[in-house]
Order: sequence, then C-alpha cells, then structure tokens
Amino acid sequence: MSTLATRDLTIRFGGHVAVNAVTCAFEPGTLTAIVGPNGAGKTTYFNLISGQLKATGGSVSLGGRDLTGLPVSERTRAGLGRAFQLTNLFPNLTVLENVRLAVQATQEGKHRRGLNLWSIWSDHRQLTERAQALLHQVAMFERRDTPVASLPHGDQRKLEVALLMALEPQVYMFDEPTAGMSHDEAPVILNLIRELKKDKTKIILLVEHKMDVVRELADRIIVLTNGTLVADGLPAEVIASPVVQEAYLGVSKDADKEAA
Ligand SMILES: Nc1ncnc2c1ncn2[C@@H]1O[C@H](COP(=O)(O)OP(=O)(O)OP(=O)(O)O)[C@@H](O)[C@H]1O
Ligand SMILES: [Mg+2]
Repeated sequence: MSTLATRDLTIRFGGHVAVNAVTCAFEPGTLTAIVGPNGAGKTTYFNLISGQLKATGGSVSLGGRDLTGLPVSERTRAGLGRAFQLTNLFPNLTVLENVRLAVQATQEGKHRRGLNLWSIWSDHRQLTERAQALLHQVAMFERRDTPVASLPHGDQRKLEVALLMALEPQVYMFDEPTAGMSHDEAPVILNLIRELKKDKTKIILLVEHKMDVVRELADRIIVLTNGTLVADGLPAEVIASPVVQEAYLGVSKDADKEAA
C-alpha cells in the first residue's frame, strides 16, 4: 500500500523558513493529527504536499512516486485530496451542480487512468445520484439548489468536504474542517471523518486546534513549531509532552475565544 512521505520538505518566504526540513511518513489506515501554535506552518505544510506551494527544498512522494515537481492537478490524480477552496468552485452554479462536476471530473480522471468506468458514470442520472448521496453525507441535501455564492459559512465548509469526498482520494487532508461551524454542524463533519477512518487504505491528515477532537480521532500526533517537527508519537504521549503543554496553553485560549 502507498505511503505518503515528505523528506526534508522546506519552504522559505524571504528570510522566514515557514516549513523547515520536515521528514515524515504517513501510512494507510492512520489518522495523523498535525498540531502546533498559530503560524507554526501546518497549512503551509499541507500546501507543499498538495502542490499549492512550491517547495524551496526537499520532496513529497506517494507510494514511492516522487510528486515534488508536479502541479496540483497531477497530485490530485495521484491520490492527494486537499479540500477545495471556494475559489475553485463555480459560484453561480448550485451546490448540486458543483458536486456533480467534481464527481464527473473524478470519474473522467479514472477513465483516463484505464479504469473503464466512464461509460457507466457518464450517465447523467448516476452522476446526479452520486452527488446527491455525497450531499446527504454532509447534511447538505436540502441546500442542493442554492447557488454556492449565497451559502452561509458553515455550509461552505461542509460543501468543501463533500467535494473532497467526491475526489475519492487516497490521502485526505483536512485543515481545521470544523472551524467557524456551529455546534450542530461540526458533528456532521467529525462523523464523516470517523467513517472515513474505517477504510484502512486511506491516509488521513487532520490539522486541528481542538484537543478533544484530536484526542478522539488521532492514531498519531505530530507537532510543528516554527516550521519544525518537534514531536511525533501516540496521542497520549504527545499530548502529555512538555512541548505540547506549552504550545497549547496559548492556542487553547484562542480556540476558547473562537468558540465563545
Ligand atoms: N504565501 C505566504 N507568503 C509569506 N509568508 C507566508 C505565506 N504563507 C504562510 N506564510 C507564513 O508562514 C508561517 C506559517 O503559516 P501557516 O499558515 O502555515 O501556519 P499555521 O500553522 O497553519 O497557523 P494557523 O494555526 O494559524 O492556521 C506564518 O509565519 C505565515 O505568516
Ligand atoms: Mg493554518
């Protein structure tokens, strides 16, 4: 099975090293939480893996294949799934239309890879049914006819997750997936991640500030501070470590403020 690995992965913005020689491997069947203070480089690390940012040095590979030089689209095809940003969507199309396009693009990509599904999936009704099923999964079915541009924030975040699921990636990268969601919306997403975990072929990376969520979902935690990987291990060990206790005294205050 395919391991995702970064080796000495580094990016500098001017004089600032935002991600500093991070070497780490992620195995299928494992949910790894990536934690660390604000500005630690967590989102930047994701952007380097997905290809949104070009590394200054080091490499990214999946299943032994070097992806470092590839654009986002190629990495997506290789199995890296990064939540869509709203800028990737068609704002004037409805929720359902956007998800259907993502489903269609995924099936076309598979077809090009040689899986002969295109003839089946090209059927409009089946694409629509798949898109509807995804919307049910994120509790967005009632919103299916709403133009994406007029969705409230929480629904936009849920839609991002539906689009990520539509890609059927091997690697799921969630960057604070419930940030800005209401108390009834967040459990929908957390349940989905719980469901995804059951598929032992998937690699799940989760950036999350809420330590109760991390404690429950993570099989492993890595800690970034100032762009450097400073801790890596089982959740109980890492949470108890001085580096996390120290880092999270500051961060959890922010998280409480956000939640209030
Ligand atoms: N495009 C960019 N240009 C310049 N500096 C950047 C850029 N992107 C990120 N940075 C800097 O890199 C550092 C890491 O930022 P990043 O957003 O990855 O942190 P983070 O760990 O995701 O923080 P948070 O928990 O607040 O989301 C910060 O100092 C940030 O200002
Ligand atoms: Mg971030």
